[in-house]
Amino acid sequence: MFLKKITLGLTCVASISLSVFALEENLVNEDYRADIIKGAFKYAWKGYSTFAYGHDELRPITNGTTDSRNGWGASIFDALDTMIIMGLEDDYLRALDHIKTVDWKQSLEPSKTFETNIRYLGGLLSAYDLKGDKILLDKAKELAENVIMPAFRTSNGIPSAYVDVELQPVGGEEIVLAEFGSLQLELVRLSQLTGDPKYEIVGNSILEKISKVPSRIPGLYPMIWNLDPFMPENTYITISGGSDSYYEYLLKTHILMEGKEELQLDMWKTAVGSMHRYLRSETHGGKVYLAEFEEHYKLLQSGELVCFMPGNLLLGARYLQNKKVEAFALELMNSCYDVWDTPTGLAPETWSWIDKSQNISFYSEKMQLTMSEAGFLSQDTGYDLRPETIESLFYFYRITGDKTYQDKAWKIFEAIEKYCKTTSGYTRIADVTNQEDVQPLNFEESYFFAETLKYLYLMFTDPSYISLDEYVFNTEAHPFKLSTPIQVQAKEFS
Ligand SMILES: *[C@@H]1O[C@H](CO)[C@@H](O)[C@H](O)[C@H]1NC(C)=O
Ligand SMILES: *[C@@H]1O[C@H](CO)[C@@H](O)[C@H](O)[C@H]1NC(C)=O
Repeated sequence: MFLKKITLGLTCVASISLSVFALEENLVNEDYRADIIKGAFKYAWKGYSTFAYGHDELRPITNGTTDSRNGWGASIFDALDTMIIMGLEDDYLRALDHIKTVDWKQSLEPSKTFETNIRYLGGLLSAYDLKGDKILLDKAKELAENVIMPAFRTSNGIPSAYVDVELQPVGGEEIVLAEFGSLQLELVRLSQLTGDPKYEIVGNSILEKISKVPSRIPGLYPMIWNLDPFMPENTYITISGGSDSYYEYLLKTHILMEGKEELQLDMWKTAVGSMHRYLRSETHGGKVYLAEFEEHYKLLQSGELVCFMPGNLLLGARYLQNKKVEAFALELMNSCYDVWDTPTGLAPETWSWIDKSQNISFYSEKMQLTMSEAGFLSQDTGYDLRPETIESLFYFYRITGDKTYQDKAWKIFEAIEKYCKTTSGYTRIADVTNQEDVQPLNFEESYFFAETLKYLYLMFTDPSYISLDEYVFNTEAHPFKLSTPIQVQAKEFS
């Protein structure tokens, strides 16, 4: 596209060449950023391919390997659709060769139902949606039959946390909201693609069961549950890890099912109403975060994992044309982005703050200073190559058409380049507050390929490419094709 513009520019007369040049530069600039992000993927994939191919992850400092996801090659499954989207055909073909050889029954450890579902099943289904190679759907079906469906063979049909190599549900009675409560998107898509409704039925039956359990705060449920009898075990409510994708999937499953299931949307609306009413917390400096709840206390702490929520809220706001939810999404987006304003430009994993209803003079001088300067206090100072803020910036860019969100994402990418890059890939770091020594941690999550680099790349390609009108992304950033398009993307970008 920009090559055409350059040719056009060359034929221009001097008097208008300036404005053409500005336009041209803008276009060059966009392609240039997408290209650099593709370069980052290729760089990391080379390191993984050289030292860890077939293992779940590369250790990017020592060039060793880890197998934290059953050793089936999680990075390959997670990176598969990113390769397709970036047009990396050779890497894709090599990945297919690996995928053909994977035997789901071979594993040293039980399979974690949720992680296997979002990474392996999600990766296969989206690659199938994008490329149509039959082997992908065959493998997806095989995986569902061997590892996901057996999790539902419990006393009451609530999926177990793990499935062992004998295909028995294991993991005990303690289960986690995000893990049993967000399996629907993948199962629904599998039913749509195979024509067999059984996957969708078990997936959605979980939501029906949850909806019958009373909650102290309408629509918001504690993180830790008991499997049978099916009920929350304590009162700890968060939108962060352990709960996050449960809320995300209520909306997205409704969209993927073409709006046929009202229950999901009702549950999402109730949850969002309660987030606004009970969890929203504003600082004296005007930042807005989503707090947590335990017993009758509001806990003034949040984390990077919660930063997917502004994007999810904006998607729902535009889908439902709800201005109030849109305003809520925007204030959360701004505050999530502000948390990246650290010495390294990378967000801490978790932080805390003082609510404006509190008398700030009761706090230490240091805390008062921190609140007036940064607006939050870093707690866990690690950065795990996480994508959630970038993901929300992607929704904001695509849905509002405002290009300043691109610049924000680019700034984050530059910080990742500067502080997380190693000689063979990208690593987690332990301290985003210490420019001099970020303490690299020698671990490269497979979601870095699936989510972080994909959302970054799609911020700088043509917005009609993998449009939010045509795809819904699972929680691992694997896009599933919508049977009926929706209308959420901006018509103009400026
Ligand atoms: C890891 O591989 C890279 C690229 O080949 C190399 O530069 C680096 O020295 C290696 N590191 C170790 C610890 O072997
Ligand atoms: C906060 O507490 C201090 C010390 O008790 C008091 O002087 C001040 O008036 C309080 N401020 C507010 C806004 O209540």
